[in-house]
Amino acid sequence: MSELKSAVTKAQPGTPMIGRLVVIGLGLIGGSFAKGLRERGLCREVVGVDLDPQSRRLAVELGVVDRCEEQLAVACQGAEVIQLAVPILAMEKLLAELAKLDLGNAVLTDVGSAKGNVVRAARLAFGEMPARFVPGHPIAGSEQSGVEAANAELFRRHKVILTPLAQTDPQALQLVDRLWCELGADVEHMQVEHHDQVLAATSHLPHLLAFGLVDSLAKRSENLEIFRYAAGGFRDFTRIAGSDPVMWHDIFLANREAVLHTLDLFRGDLDALRDAVDAGDGHQLLGVFTRARVAREHFSKILARRAYVDAMHSNDLIFLANPGGKLSGRIRVPGDKSISHRSIMLGSLAEGTTEVEGFLEGEDALATLQAFRDMGVVIEGPHHGRVTIHGVGLQGLQAPPGPIYLGNSGTSMRLLAGLLAGQSFDTTLSGDASLSKRPMNRVAKPLREMGAVIETAPEGRPPLTIRGGQRLSGMHYEMPMASAQVKSCLLLAGLYAAGQTSVTEPAPTRDHTERMLRGFGYPVAVDGSTASLESGHKLTASHIEVPADISSAAFFLVAGSIAEDSELLLEHVGINPTRTGVIDILKLMGGDISLENQRVVGGEPVADIRVRSAKLHGIDIPEHLVPLAIDEFPVLFVAAACAEGRTVLRGAEELRVKESDRIQVMADGLLALGAKVEPTPDGIIIDGGSLGGGEVWSHGDHRIAMAFSVASLRASAPIRIHDCANVATSFPNFLALAAQVGIRVAEEVKS
Ligand code: S3P
Repeated sequence: MSELKSAVTKAQPGTPMIGRLVVIGLGLIGGSFAKGLRERGLCREVVGVDLDPQSRRLAVELGVVDRCEEQLAVACQGAEVIQLAVPILAMEKLLAELAKLDLGNAVLTDVGSAKGNVVRAARLAFGEMPARFVPGHPIAGSEQSGVEAANAELFRRHKVILTPLAQTDPQALQLVDRLWCELGADVEHMQVEHHDQVLAATSHLPHLLAFGLVDSLAKRSENLEIFRYAAGGFRDFTRIAGSDPVMWHDIFLANREAVLHTLDLFRGDLDALRDAVDAGDGHQLLGVFTRARVAREHFSKILARRAYVDAMHSNDLIFLANPGGKLSGRIRVPGDKSISHRSIMLGSLAEGTTEVEGFLEGEDALATLQAFRDMGVVIEGPHHGRVTIHGVGLQGLQAPPGPIYLGNSGTSMRLLAGLLAGQSFDTTLSGDASLSKRPMNRVAKPLREMGAVIETAPEGRPPLTIRGGQRLSGMHYEMPMASAQVKSCLLLAGLYAAGQTSVTEPAPTRDHTERMLRGFGYPVAVDGSTASLESGHKLTASHIEVPADISSAAFFLVAGSIAEDSELLLEHVGINPTRTGVIDILKLMGGDISLENQRVVGGEPVADIRVRSAKLHGIDIPEHLVPLAIDEFPVLFVAAACAEGRTVLRGAEELRVKESDRIQVMADGLLALGAKVEPTPDGIIIDGGSLGGGEVWSHGDHRIAMAFSVASLRASAPIRIHDCANVATSFPNFLALAAQVGIRVAEEVKS
């Protein structure tokens, strides 16, 4: 990637960073740049230049600049930075004039919305691109214009793209970068061509469509009728047709090639939509509409997350958990995450239409859902946990339009890696900061032995690029670690591999893949610790009822146990024996937990679970239970910290490579609350006692955030839990359900 996030140090407020700043063109953007730097005291002098005497006068009156000059040559004398903020088509003439002047060592920069034409104009004027010219583009604006609308805060939290060239002087680049950062902008660096293409697609094309649509409708004879009945849709879509026509005319002339390219692609897609309407092809229309609807939401989430990573701590979602509480009530926690992922995968590969109920509408499972939409599967919903998947068959997936972004979801990445290794097309799988640190060699290595071609980042980290068109061969694999993700990955690759694929696990792990494959009519043999299948069969659409997730229920099992005088009923929880380690461990610790109304729903055992307060005591956790409770340890550590005596966990090194290093992160948090804990390489030793309050960090790990929320029930003071946004990956309504049963945790209100 050519984009680089800049890391620059902030200037001391009031200490000038530069001598004279000259801003040529005192419109909204130029004026706001001048005013912002001037108000912050970052330039010894700010000089404005504008053809319009009125703007020059106003600029001085409004404190946008210190003084104005009519003559370019006079203004630029002794300038340290010259900002070119004139309309984009005026740039060529301005640059030609500047080229005639002695600009000394001044750094030039600009704010044009297209960059290729500015670079061309500079080359034309100066003979080559001056090394001290840093092209830039602030993505900010307002419906107002002119220097009177200048706003020193206009660029705060807006993106500014700088497009340096190979010959750009790094010091000049750093200076311009710093100036924008001082204005609160989020600065990125990008190549010129890339900038122009991205902007053509995200900004220029939508404006062209809005102007074009309004004009096209307005010129029809029935236009009065159309506008009289034009409601929200028309209004929303065409809002940007109210933008400045001259400015936009300039932009289209300046960014001609990139706009034509994106417009031609769009014309092709529009024709396809027209054909679908013409042919009454509802499937095609539903596909486009469902994909578009979620893509919009998905993109906003990705962008929001990016802001989380970049904008220091300002977006830290903090849970404030107040001490004490007594629990009661009955709740149904959201659908099982593992089963939700698999329902989308197998439903997509099946022939026919699969209906899913109880689907987890958390970010992880939604990432899987979006991945299949990207690969051409039409998926309706989710709506109140209902999803309808129009399966495409084992050979029906299509190449996605770009890399598949999987957010925080390790399960999506590992299972998809297997499934995609057998496709005819290439795919790239990427994820957020946490997922990008997680080990993928555990799947890449055995998949390569089957004939897959997979590239990873150093040390087997994401992103993964999986080359399509390979001939996979089945094999037998002795798994070195107990991992349902690795097992499932290889079985999914086995659907596309010649002959038999079998996996032997060192200890039992969740078997949802095996169960669900059978539910879709695909034969899977399980012999002791070995699961195997052969390619050549098909999946037939099915009906799936996803039970409530025992991993989410676990927070309430511990909460109900450690809080005084409490009783809770957790409805319809999946109790697959490969997942119930948390119940076994809590019972060994003296927990009062009973299973009621046991039944089998869609091939998975389910029960209502009753939990009552209990006096827990420490135990040596039997190692065979580790894989069966692998996701529940963060909250089990909380139970141990509230129990009497010592709890020892061994053989759980896997916890160090989950969404965070769950041994270290939990140990740090519990220590901060005054508990006695000692992390070990493969586990932890916890001496139960009392908990105080304090600040803890979840490191973006959903289960850590929820575990410390539960800890508050026995804390003596409030617990502030940082970095909780990822609770939405597995348990979007956690706070609501927690409050409903009596846990005093809520999002901290920002002052
Ligand atoms: C999962 C398996 C487990 C678990 C994860 C979900 C699955 O990972 O931690 O949250 O759905 O297969 P490992 O199998 O790698 O232990």
